[in-house]
Amino acid sequence: MTETSFLGKSLVSIRDLTREHINLILDEAEKMEKIIHSGKKPLVGKVMVSLFMEPSTRTRLSFESAMHRLGGAVISVSDPKSSSAAKGESLSDTIRTVANYGDVIVIRHPMEGSARLAAEFSSVPVISGGSGAEEHPTQALLDLLTLKRELKEIEGKRIALVGDLKYGRTVHSLAYSLAKYKGVIIDFVSPQSLKIRDEIKTDLKEAGLEFHEEESLINVISRVDAIYMTRIQKERFAQESEYAKVKDAYVLTKKIMKEAKGPIPVLHPLPRVNEIDYDLDETVHAVYFSQTFNGVLTRMALLNLILGGKI
Ligand code: CP
Repeated sequence: MTETSFLGKSLVSIRDLTREHINLILDEAEKMEKIIHSGKKPLVGKVMVSLFMEPSTRTRLSFESAMHRLGGAVISVSDPKSSSAAKGESLSDTIRTVANYGDVIVIRHPMEGSARLAAEFSSVPVISGGSGAEEHPTQALLDLLTLKRELKEIEGKRIALVGDLKYGRTVHSLAYSLAKYKGVIIDFVSPQSLKIRDEIKTDLKEAGLEFHEEESLINVISRVDAIYMTRIQKERFAQESEYAKVKDAYVLTKKIMKEAKGPIPVLHPLPRVNEIDYDLDETVHAVYFSQTFNGVLTRMALLNLILGGKI
C-alpha cells in the first residue's frame, strides 16, 4: 500500500476499502494539521467540483475547506434548485458535463446508488459525500480518525451506535468499517422501527463482526468504550406521524453519562436535533466538535491522495 494506491480512484463505498487503505488515509490525515500550518499547497492548479443535491453544512464545507487549504480551487452547486437538475437533467448527464470542469467531483445525492452511478459516468474521480440513506464513506473515515485519536486503539473496543440505524447512512458506513478491526463489538441501539437493515447484518456477520441489538441505551452504557449518537432522519420518513413516534427515543444527558464506565467519548456526525442535551457539551465526553475538524484533515488526506499532491 503506497501513496499512489488512490491516484485517480473514486470512493463511493467504505466497503471498497481494505483495512490497509483505511490505515493509509488515517496516517495521511494525521500529517495534514502540519500541512495547514506549513503553508504548503500541493494541489495548486487542481479544481474540485462540489455537487450537493441535498442539504449539508459539514461535508460540503469541510471538503471545500480541505481543497482550499491544499491550494486547489472549488466550484460548487450547493442547492439543487439552482442547477439544471431542476429542469429535469439526468444525473448521468450532469456528471458527464461537470467532469469537464474539474479534476475530482464530490457528490451528495438523495438516491441510493447515486455515487456509484456518478463514478461510472465520470471521466474524473468521484467521492461520495452521502448517497441517500445508503452510505457516507468519508464520514466513516473521519469517525475512525476520531475514535483512534480518542481511544488510541480501535481494535478490541466495544462501541454503541445509537438512534436511527435504518436510515442513518453514517451508521451503515461506520459499521462496515468497524468490521475491518479485530475484536470490535458493536451494540446497535434503536427503536424497533429503526433497526439496522437485515442485509447489513448479514454482511457484518459474514465479516465476522460481533454485534448485539438493544432498545435501551441505559442497558449498554456501562459496558461500552464509546457512544456514537445519531439524529432520527426526519426527511426519510414517508409519514410525519411515524417520525413523531420515535423522534425523542434517545436524549443523552450529563446525568445519563454518569452510568458510563469512565470518561468515554461521545461522537455524533451532526447535525443534532435533541438527541444530545447541550449540558453534555462542556464535559470530557463531548468530542463531536473536534470530530468536525477531523473531517477537514481526513478530506484533505483523501483529496491529496486521489489527486497526487506531493507533501
Ligand atoms: N455529518 C454530515 O454529513 O453533516 P452534513 O449533513 O452537515 O454534511
